[in-house]
Amino acid sequence: MKNIFESPPPVVENIDKETEDSDEEVFQKYVESLELTPDDFEKQILDIGSNTAQFAKYAKEHRISKEIYSIDIRPASLEREKSVVGSAEALPFQNESFDLVVSLSAIPNIYIGAEFSGRREQIIQQAIEEMIRVVRKGGEIRLGNIRLEKDREDGYIQNYITAVHTVLDQLRKREDIIISTQKISPDEDLLRIQKV
Ligand SMILES: C[S@@+](CC[C@H](N)C(=O)[O-])C[C@H]1O[C@@H](n2cnc3c(N)ncnc32)[C@H](O)[C@@H]1O
Repeated sequence: MKNIFESPPPVVENIDKETEDSDEEVFQKYVESLELTPDDFEKQILDIGSNTAQFAKYAKEHRISKEIYSIDIRPASLEREKSVVGSAEALPFQNESFDLVVSLSAIPNIYIGAEFSGRREQIIQQAIEEMIRVVRKGGEIRLGNIRLEKDREDGYIQNYITAVHTVLDQLRKREDIIISTQKISPDEDLLRIQKV
């Protein structure tokens, strides 16, 4: 297989498990929130903000997919073979390496991290632009379990929602992507970005 890493990935040492949800529960949450279908599992997938890579681990152990790469900013991966420590805003992968880029519940965390640097919108925009860079033409990015509904919340969550909309308004100027949103539940939206 083609080497998709730009440089050798850092070795993942720490395999602490930090979530109480079972691998199966996490996998099911990915499937529901990202509307994953059997066809999607035929594709080469990158999971950004994967935490302990439970999604990839379950898919591999149950022979659903061996082609899921995982990246998280913290060194806590369980699926060593295709796991990397790194940040969403500087992905260590070549252009157009994946068919499907997914990220579940990670954009709010990226926003929290970005807040300390005072560059909230810029870092979310950088992260999404990186996702667009590494996905192949004809491929798709799905960002799940995010909140996009304006004016429903106060304070911090509303600031986060406003920041995401500011970034999406900028990204809509690009001609190589199509952005669409979908309500999964009253508190949960799915953002799809197709690369054309
Ligand atoms: C709420 S957890 C979601 C984990 C997993 N996707 C799930 O749904 O079970 C968010 C994850 O995003 C990671 N994260 C936060 N900022 C990140 C960044 N800038 N780049 C990559 N991962 C990041 C955190 O370390 C954390 O593991």
